[in-house]
Amino acid sequence: MALILYGVVSLFLGMATTLGPVPRITWEHKEVHLEHFQEPETFNYSTLLLNEDKEILYVGAREVIFALNSLNISEKKQEVFWKVTEYQKTRCAEKGKSKQTECLNYIRVLQELNDASLYVCGTNAFQPICDHLNLTSFKLVGRNDDGKGRCPFDPAQSYTSVMVDGDLYSGTSYNFLGSEPIISRNSLQNPLRTEYAIPWLNEPNFIFADVIRADPDSAGEDDDKVYFFFTEVSVEYEFLGKLMIPRIARVCKGDQGGHRTLQKKWTSYLKARLLCSVPDKNLFFNIVNDVFILKTPSLKEPVIYGVFTPQLNNVGLSAVCAYNISTVEDVFVKGKYMQSTTVEQSHTKWLRYNGEIPKPRPGACINKESRAEKINTTLNLPDKTLQFVKDHPLMDDSVTPIGDRPRLVKRDVKYTQIVVDQVRALNGTLYDVMFISTGKSNGRGNQYLYAGSNAGVVQSPVAFCDKYSTCVDCVLARDPYCAWNPHASSCVHIFKESETERDWIQNISGDASSCSDKVREHSLQHTFKHGSTAELKCSQKSNLAQVVWKFKDDVLKVESPKYRLLEKALLIFNLSEGDSGVYQCLSEEEVKNQKFSQVLAKHVLELKKVQHTTLSPTQPSTRTEGNGEMLKTSVVATEGSAAHTSTAPIVSVATSRIVTNPIVPDLMSTVSDMEHSNSLAEVPEKTLFLKSNDNSLLMFLFLFFFVLFLCLFAYNCYNGFLPDQCLKFRSAMLLGKKKPKTDFSDCEQSVKETLVEPGSLMTQSGDHPKPAHDTGYETEADCGNGHVQHDEEHSHSYKEVKDKPFDVKCELKFADSDAEGD
Ligand SMILES: *[C@@H]1O[C@H](CO)[C@@H](O)[C@H](O)[C@H]1NC(C)=O
Ligand SMILES: *[C@@H]1O[C@H](CO)[C@@H](O)[C@H](O)[C@H]1NC(C)=O
Ligand SMILES: *[C@@H]1O[C@H](CO)[C@@H](O)[C@H](O)[C@H]1NC(C)=O
Ligand SMILES: *[C@@H]1O[C@H](CO)[C@@H](O)[C@H](O)[C@H]1NC(C)=O
Ligand SMILES: *[C@@H]1O[C@H](CO)[C@@H](O)[C@H](O)[C@H]1NC(C)=O
Ligand SMILES: *[C@@H]1O[C@H](CO)[C@@H](O)[C@H](O)[C@H]1NC(C)=O
Ligand SMILES: *[C@@H]1O[C@H](CO)[C@@H](O)[C@H](O)[C@H]1NC(C)=O
Ligand SMILES: *[C@@H]1O[C@H](CO)[C@@H](O)[C@H](O)[C@H]1NC(C)=O
Repeated sequence: MALILYGVVSLFLGMATTLGPVPRITWEHKEVHLEHFQEPETFNYSTLLLNEDKEILYVGAREVIFALNSLNISEKKQEVFWKVTEYQKTRCAEKGKSKQTECLNYIRVLQELNDASLYVCGTNAFQPICDHLNLTSFKLVGRNDDGKGRCPFDPAQSYTSVMVDGDLYSGTSYNFLGSEPIISRNSLQNPLRTEYAIPWLNEPNFIFADVIRADPDSAGEDDDKVYFFFTEVSVEYEFLGKLMIPRIARVCKGDQGGHRTLQKKWTSYLKARLLCSVPDKNLFFNIVNDVFILKTPSLKEPVIYGVFTPQLNNVGLSAVCAYNISTVEDVFVKGKYMQSTTVEQSHTKWLRYNGEIPKPRPGACINKESRAEKINTTLNLPDKTLQFVKDHPLMDDSVTPIGDRPRLVKRDVKYTQIVVDQVRALNGTLYDVMFISTGKSNGRGNQYLYAGSNAGVVQSPVAFCDKYSTCVDCVLARDPYCAWNPHASSCVHIFKESETERDWIQNISGDASSCSDKVREHSLQHTFKHGSTAELKCSQKSNLAQVVWKFKDDVLKVESPKYRLLEKALLIFNLSEGDSGVYQCLSEEEVKNQKFSQVLAKHVLELKKVQHTTLSPTQPSTRTEGNGEMLKTSVVATEGSAAHTSTAPIVSVATSRIVTNPIVPDLMSTVSDMEHSNSLAEVPEKTLFLKSNDNSLLMFLFLFFFVLFLCLFAYNCYNGFLPDQCLKFRSAMLLGKKKPKTDFSDCEQSVKETLVEPGSLMTQSGDHPKPAHDTGYETEADCGNGHVQHDEEHSHSYKEVKDKPFDVKCELKFADSDAEGD
């Protein structure tokens, strides 16, 4: 499976910690089902375009374009190959490029031209071309337009594009070497481009482009604007090396270039620094990795969200900053310009320009004021204005984020993608939900997120409500998409349910006091031997909760050396009679000074003697089956009158990739009681099987062979067959009396415990490595030198155990797992 499929999805909550929010829940890819799409021999699924009305996701990969069902991307609807000819490949290779990788056609532009066709461009072996894709026949029309300025030559180079009223606006490079950056409009009537000059673009890395329409109420007094986002090498700061600066640039749609100065060049090109920093911590985020502009009718104005990382990111920080469009416009419309001055002959310094500014204001769109001056188009602009904007495209003022600081700062992750959705929670309040990921490219539908990578495309639901098995869990998730349905006893996706009677429980402040979850009744029984070690499992999904263990209703002092608290279990050493009783594992989560606690697991320890006990199969049904159906609704709360963005907890979901995850079967989430009871059916059989390995029988067999062994040895020694070994034998005997013996009894113990421990058997059985549940303690640790293993070390410890002598009986259990485990 592709790398991307080992994804994690986390839910962040706006908890005040030193650096920012902590993800409350992290779902690993194995715990959730995500649809994915990948074709053999096809790579670089880099360009996505979603058509929500047609429910189609278009995917541009290397040498092929796909149309997928956007509700289930594993269903391919159509495909069209777009390959480079052998001649072009050869010519490209002659120029020193790799025939196998670079001299291919990487699809870089997929834009909707009209209802019936797409505008598509590809790198085409370093000879970019563009074409129209007929959506009826799903065939390329064969126009072979020159793609220069619309699509990069080099697949490794950055690019961005947006289609506005039939014209393609793109940020890319204009030449084979990739050394000439360009922001251009490709239109028949009015093609425009940037000046090729360092103050305009200085080694930019293009990220994103989008259009912001003028306020329709302005009645043509203002113009639509196209914004470009990129990171470039700064000209304005003195720095030892190249200091990178995140930028926002804008051009006006009505721009037609200048008459003499700036002919066929933008007259409205201005750029400014996007500031994203935590000044009091001296943290500057200099690289913008992705941008999303949230535009919904309920917002007074669009909001720009960007994900940033610092330039020297050795700690692995990421931040999200949000900007008002009005703040951006204020910088361009009212801000000061920067001016370069030459000092000491060659060196240039950029400083704030305080001199006189020509009129009309350089870089402004054609608006009411300029029309009043009889300037109808940019062609009428005076040379003075044009010359000024040509020399001063950089603003001195920076665009500052809303709240003057990031919305989120996260350590140990490099976010590269963001999409934002606005959701109306049950009580009517609107929340902005950020979906941030480390993937390559993203798209968002009403219900799903799409992420492309070199290896494939994945589709993720916007929330995993059905993963919350209790009301407290569901409410504490503080996910505006999820609510607890008390009748069905399930956590539901509020836009998927068609029910009109919505007496569901949701509280984004995290007040779960209206929940009345049933107390977990069933417990797991364990028997133990004097002096042995017990491992009581308990898994806690929430990173904001604390695990508290109770013994006979008193809080257990886990700090005592008798106990050891592991991430997903409690170890109790040197068990004695006083340790028998009921152990409860509670999850305590504090939200706004209110503590919510839930019993996650209950274990009963008993001193040996007992043969076997059974589980009490209570089953508060927590899972509704058939959650998989997909009701497509178009209700992501973008409509609505209450224009009120909550500044309260920004909730976000992050999809990220993990590569370091081994195939550990111990992926515990909250226990599904249903699965427990199902597994009970398997118990009698196992019990029978293990009965034949009864304790006394084992002991007898062991003693028998041990005595036989001793006899043989003694006999051989006595006969002088092994004179040298006799000494060793004697010393071995001394040790042997202790060590192998205790090892053995531990192993015997484990067999015994397996006998009464259906849970651990269940964990090992089944035809898939399904998540283990906190059904009891595993005892392999006892067989491995008394050394405590972590879950990650299981496979290792199995091996270790097998290699040890006298552990034959231990292997009974493992053999069992080997046979059925995978
Ligand atoms: C395309 O995908 C391959 C395979 O994963 C990867 O090695 C290569 O770097 C990718 N190329 C680009 C330009 O993304
Ligand atoms: C998506 O389609 C695949 C095969 O086409 C199917 O196996 C899978 O069950 C579908 N998923 C859903 C959620 O319907
Ligand atoms: C697209 O293809 C269909 C079927 O081949 C054809 O009828 C139609 O004219 C084509 N449309 C365009 C815009 O070329
Ligand atoms: C400006 O445009 C209007 C119509 O849009 C036209 O009547 C007028 O002559 C134009 N003025 C100039 C100076 O071009
Ligand atoms: C951004 O806009 C919102 C609503 O339009 C406003 O409440 C907020 O003060 C603005 N923030 C800044 C920094 O301008
Ligand atoms: C959530 O809980 C808070 C605190 O108890 C309360 O003020 C608020 O009204 C609740 N909201 C909803 C939607 O129940
Ligand atoms: C909805 O709930 C949130 C969180 O409890 C609260 O802040 C907000 O005021 C509520 N909105 C309404 C309209 O009651
Ligand atoms: C185990 O517990 C017993 C008392 O139950 C105690 O005498 C003994 O020293 C303990 N052994 C270890 C290794 O702690």
